[in-house]
Amino acid sequence: MGRKTMLFLIVGVLGAYYFYTPLPDNIEEPWKLVLLATYINAITDLALFVELLGISHFINTVNFLMTFQEVPPTSDENVIVMETTFNSVPVRTYVPKRKSQTLRRGLFYIHGGGWCLGSAAWFDTDFLSRQTAERLDAIVISTNYRLAPKHHFPNQFEDVYNALKWFLRQDVLDKYGVDPERIGILGDSAGGNLAAAVTQQLIDDPDVKIKLKTQSLIYPALQILDVDLPSYRENSHFPVLSKSLMVRFWSEYFTTDRSLENAMFFNQHVPVESSHLFKFVNWSSLLPEKFKKGHFYNSPTYGSSELAKKYPGFLDVRAAPLLADDSKLHKLPLTYVLTCQYDVLRDDGIMYVTRLQKAGVRVTHDHIEDGFHGAVSIQGFKIRYRLENQHVSWLSQNL
Ligand SMILES: *[C@@H]1O[C@H](CO)[C@@H](O)[C@H](O)[C@H]1NC(C)=O
Repeated sequence: MGRKTMLFLIVGVLGAYYFYTPLPDNIEEPWKLVLLATYINAITDLALFVELLGISHFINTVNFLMTFQEVPPTSDENVIVMETTFNSVPVRTYVPKRKSQTLRRGLFYIHGGGWCLGSAAWFDTDFLSRQTAERLDAIVISTNYRLAPKHHFPNQFEDVYNALKWFLRQDVLDKYGVDPERIGILGDSAGGNLAAAVTQQLIDDPDVKIKLKTQSLIYPALQILDVDLPSYRENSHFPVLSKSLMVRFWSEYFTTDRSLENAMFFNQHVPVESSHLFKFVNWSSLLPEKFKKGHFYNSPTYGSSELAKKYPGFLDVRAAPLLADDSKLHKLPLTYVLTCQYDVLRDDGIMYVTRLQKAGVRVTHDHIEDGFHGAVSIQGFKIRYRLENQHVSWLSQNL
């Protein structure tokens, strides 16, 4: 294909997306979201095309096209930013410059990116960490972790857990001047998944004496047993995160074998032996009426046991925190969950809220009626400031 044809194709595709992204009326700054959607669609389509030609793995192309988002660890007038390792996991630390007479809050942050993309160095991640450190006068630790497709579950989980355990050592907290009674964890999207998973793991870990006071889960992904939830149905093509991209991320978390992705997309991946797990993710019983409206519950279609034997990760509670039973959930710390109306992951978060509340955990749930996936961290949108304010004010009252 000639360069001109290629250019024509790209411009044509961009143009088509520009005109055909229908957005609901309550979206603030819709033209910005259309531009962002166009940009994301162009990148993912290009990456799919390159993959189809057999040149490079989809995720590697997307990653390559997005590396320019990285910024060096630069201190500013308010916050000292450094890079180090916690238990051999690379992290970025954000320490407020102003003097403090007392110990500070500590916040352990896990970035999103579908277990495949992103890093503590990404502009959006760096900005959020820096802002939070300054506004909350807290020590923020922004962790990295190994990513798919090179690394699969449980590497991502283990890296985050190892870094967290390092941070929770008394000598490390002393070094940063962190109050062991005021430590929270925060994650968005796949980072919210990892935050929820490591928070569960920490509860019964006899090696860690210092525990978390709060967990903040921003549009977290919490299960991959059922992708036929109302939020998946309603937002399957909504920018920033389509159903197909989310399913691709999930399957890449476990394997590069595309047969898992295909089974997941059609909701035919859970074997009948695991049917007892469906009660933990049953939207028909776990969603409030408002979110079920107009939808009928389809009983699961069972998949082959082969797939689940090969990739048991997708049925593992460390990958799908919604699969924890009530006796485990009961012990979780004070929780903040943010969900967005226009997000395939909306119902994961809402079902977790229901389950945590039933288990007796104190939960604050902010549901954003005009929110979309990524609204908390993506630069340039007014909504980001509103959501960030809501979360930071919750932290300042509860952490
Ligand atoms: C899900 O919940 C509904 C009722 O709310 C029930 O009828 C259905 O059998 C449940 N399905 C599974 C697989 O647990």
